[in-house]
Amino acid sequence: MTSTSPSIDQLVQPHIQGMRGYTPGEQVNQCLKLNTNECAWPPSPSVFAGLAAFVADGLRLYPDPQSARLREAAGKLWNFPAAGILAGNGSDDCLTILYRCLLQPGDRVAVPWPTYGLYDTLAAIQNVEMVHVPWGPDWSLPGEALLASGARMLLIANPNNPSASLISSAELCALAKRFNGLLVVDEAYIDYAPEGSSCIPQLAAHPNMVVLRTCSKSYSLAGARLGFCLGQASLISQMMKVKDSYNVNALTQAVGLAALGDRAYHQRLVADTLAARETLEEGLRKLGWALVPSSGNFVLAAAGPRAGEWYAGLKQRGILVRWWDTPELREYLRITVGQPADQQRLLAALRELGA
Ligand SMILES: Cc1ncc(COP(=O)(O)O)c(C=O)c1O
Repeated sequence: MTSTSPSIDQLVQPHIQGMRGYTPGEQVNQCLKLNTNECAWPPSPSVFAGLAAFVADGLRLYPDPQSARLREAAGKLWNFPAAGILAGNGSDDCLTILYRCLLQPGDRVAVPWPTYGLYDTLAAIQNVEMVHVPWGPDWSLPGEALLASGARMLLIANPNNPSASLISSAELCALAKRFNGLLVVDEAYIDYAPEGSSCIPQLAAHPNMVVLRTCSKSYSLAGARLGFCLGQASLISQMMKVKDSYNVNALTQAVGLAALGDRAYHQRLVADTLAARETLEEGLRKLGWALVPSSGNFVLAAAGPRAGEWYAGLKQRGILVRWWDTPELREYLRITVGQPADQQRLLAALRELGA
């Protein structure tokens, strides 16, 4: 039977047909994963206790659509009103909600480039224009160019991914003051930066700024998917209208509460990561590689023209790091901090490869 109806693909919106999907870091089993900036150690034991105490009704019933207890706990932790906090299925979900809430086709967003690739993908899905503003020398903030971009929303990962570089909260506040739009400060890695680096204490005085936080990194809960957006309560209540009704599932609400409540364990995870970062940096410097000073749980190493070769060689040996075949990053490797023995394995493999 012949059909006159268009192929199903043609029913898909043209801008979706034309875009490339987001390419996450490879998730390969039985490899040493130093490629997606997960935490090298497991989450707090109280997370497992929380899971064990999870009762059948916790699965039978829908979760709290507002994630109220989680937002209260996050508010206490960060000294911020719960009414100004949205919980998301990872901070990626908070980003999706921001794009859907603020932007329509024809609008413009801008980012310092290179940065977290999902910002681009979300712009393509929402059919808005993305402006890449190159970072200044030594990964400094290209403030003037960002302001001149004509964007309605600016996104700045701080510390930045993939550079792990940090911009001071004072500089970000000064940018927000001069910007006629929403400044999104994505603090996925802020717990690895020096104390006082977060913009959260500045939110009350800067109504056009929001801060994103995640439990994927310093809380070691990437698999659970939990993130937060902090900002003006009026903006958060608009975002609540846009989110999926039950965007944070019941299991994640339980483990999130347990993880946020165990502050001592969290401090230990961060301290262990910072100690391991120092060892990794030392080892990479011994190879003669220059490093961008890191404020994250990963380092960006200037591995030189053979970076792609090292990446492939490591992969063959079951070690994954991140390499991008792009003009800006072709000569760099981004390496996640691992447990000390794993880092030794990485460094030994690099030496064996002739790096
Ligand atoms: C800058 C930045 N923001 C957000 C995320 C994603 O966070 P989540 O796991 O909470 O969605 C990442 C993950 O690598 C990231 O690098």
